Amino acid sequence: MEIYLEDNTLITSKTDLKGHITYGNADFIQFSGYRESEFLNKPHNIIRHQDMPRIAFKLLWDNVQNGREFFGFVKNLSREKNVYWVFANITPSYDEHHNIIGYYSVRRRPSKNGVSFMNDLYPKLCQAESQGGMNASFELLTNTLKEANISYDELVINLQNTAKTQGYH
Ligand SMILES: Cc1cc2nc3c(=O)[nH]c(=O)nc-3n(C[C@H](O)[C@H](O)[C@H](O)COP(=O)(O)O)c2cc1C
Repeated sequence: MEIYLEDNTLITSKTDLKGHITYGNADFIQFSGYRESEFLNKPHNIIRHQDMPRIAFKLLWDNVQNGREFFGFVKNLSREKNVYWVFANITPSYDEHHNIIGYYSVRRRPSKNGVSFMNDLYPKLCQAESQGGMNASFELLTNTLKEANISYDELVINLQNTAKTQGYH
């Protein structure tokens, strides 16, 4: 079954440097279907959906480990095997010496355009990965962006924020 975020849904979680969950809010609990005791200190891939290409998570980690924020459309899988799409913004958290001490993700209802774009692109990236690994999916993603003459950040932010944005379901 697929479940849908509402306009006022805000799913947040925090992880340590390795991606182990250190915090999840009430919406995280509601959508993931896990109780706090079940997700604390577990890797964040407990809600990974197999339809997500590995390159998406490589981009995520490359960005946040280098101090940049990351935006992306992510298909997740709950404890009860419900699917839910989100628009995620992931940022590093710092201590007073500017060392990265963890990561923070805020997820909102995605746009209809964004989900339909990624429902088309992600299977192609997965297909490329199954044949040529992440080099192949990286190349496909790079070429897709080059052809559209747009950066990854611009693409996802445009998809989420176009003037007539319609929420996904
Ligand atoms: C703050 C933060 C939030 C994350 N949220 C998710 C998420 O909601 N769903 C997901 O599949 N991966 C999420 N990840 C990425 C996972 O850590 C992991 O890289 C991904 O699930 C792929 O796992 P795998 O390489 O074991 O297949 C998040 C990472 C960070 C740092």
